[in-house]
Amino acid sequence: MTPYFIMTNKNKHLEEFDSFHIVVFGGDGDLAVRKIYPALFHRHRDGQFKKDYKIIAITRKIPNKLSFSVQLTKFLKTSEGEHMRTDEIEKFVHQIELIQVENQETSSFNNLAEILNKNPKYQHIYYFSTPSSAFGPIAKALKKSGLVNDKSKVVIEKPLGHNLASSNAINIEISEAFQESQIYRIDHYLGKETVQNLMVLRFANNLFERAWDSEHIDNIQITVAESLGVEKRAAYYDSSGALLDMVQNHLLQLLCLVAMEPPSVLEADEVRNEKLKVLRSLRPLTKKTVQTDTVKGQYTRGTIQGSEVNSYLEDIEKYQSKTETFVAVKVYVDNWRWKNIPFYLRTGKRMIKRFSEIVINFKEVRHNIFPSKEKLNNNKLIIRLQPEERIELIQMTKIPGPGGYRYKPIALKLDYSDTFKSRFPEAYERLIIDVIRGNQTLFMRQDEVQAAWTWIESITESWKANNQPNILYEAGSWGPGNLILDEDETWVTKTWKEE
Ligand code: BG6
Repeated sequence: MTPYFIMTNKNKHLEEFDSFHIVVFGGDGDLAVRKIYPALFHRHRDGQFKKDYKIIAITRKIPNKLSFSVQLTKFLKTSEGEHMRTDEIEKFVHQIELIQVENQETSSFNNLAEILNKNPKYQHIYYFSTPSSAFGPIAKALKKSGLVNDKSKVVIEKPLGHNLASSNAINIEISEAFQESQIYRIDHYLGKETVQNLMVLRFANNLFERAWDSEHIDNIQITVAESLGVEKRAAYYDSSGALLDMVQNHLLQLLCLVAMEPPSVLEADEVRNEKLKVLRSLRPLTKKTVQTDTVKGQYTRGTIQGSEVNSYLEDIEKYQSKTETFVAVKVYVDNWRWKNIPFYLRTGKRMIKRFSEIVINFKEVRHNIFPSKEKLNNNKLIIRLQPEERIELIQMTKIPGPGGYRYKPIALKLDYSDTFKSRFPEAYERLIIDVIRGNQTLFMRQDEVQAAWTWIESITESWKANNQPNILYEAGSWGPGNLILDEDETWVTKTWKEE
């Protein structure tokens, strides 16, 4: 008898979807070229799109198909490496249709309507890869042009506004055209493999979940350091800064996954309800606590991997700016599980290297029974997100040999790429597929965004009231102040550690 669980088709796990149109506004922009089309290309190549589909790139100016194709082909070739067949890339790029939509008048949408109406049964996915000020007007024009129906979906990218009021205003505009169940607010960190593994690590391993609280954990540190600067986004970045660009979304989402209660089932609203509770439990900062519990910094000139790099002010071509390129915040989640346990969130540009990690620092053992009384380091669970994807459990281990008990901290390591030799899909691949199949689990709901902004405003308002200055740090350093690597190569803040 054939065992029923054997799967012969290697792509059996890849589901089929209804036919779809994906319409990318800002279709010749940086995000579309670097993330959206490559993600679609990979899913197409892996055979996940069994039914018909069409990609439509919307541009504001008359599109230049040739230069678009050359640019995208070049990008895909260089990013995919030598093994990628050129004809496959070219065929994919060739089928992307470019359409001009000059403004938000319904007449501008005629050409788009003509294409979409040819296949009325396809689901329409509108991807707004534009500044958020255009979201409302585009949504309105789509609705007015009769291009929104029950099957339509809209994908929106951060930044969703620049404060609570503007984020709410965007939401109101979008929700005049789309229901909440049709809105997909992307936070690409939630599409990363290692971030999703956090859910499995926590909720599929009894060992960790039993010790996941203030009784057993001393503090939690979430760090996203980048060696890149502001690149070509000076204007956007200078009006947002590290707190809005990274903490309001990516770092808070990581915090939610680490701190939330187990959802009863893995369904979109169950997971989002739990994340919302965490966001609503964040202790707001005050004029007084921002001075001790936040650090904001800005990079000056420096050297990264042997190359000299400009200061932030040189990068944005201004004489002065109050924008922070580094931020660290000590956060408390005021609920039963996390009472008085600090979460340290940190992120910065032009740091010494690119690395992201979540470190769970467990409490020390209650009593040292060993005669030498040498220090017993606390256990640490380190979840390294990038560039390498690895989980390490630091535990005390006896040093072999006679002569009594000597011990030292040793890491038990699970290297993701060594263990699972296959290619890891990019975050956008997973997220776009979830949009097509209608799974909102990894997308933020409006009340989550609202709760995140409410907490963030407690910091921005207090910084403003205090006129809190930036601490300058050299590009290529560990950031401002007393930030150092400790013996396990995790990043700690000396001042906070020594408290
Ligand atoms: C984006 C920010 O959301 O995330 C960028 O706007 C940042 O400033 C980027 O560089 C980091 O993403 P990743 O996936 O490279 O860590």
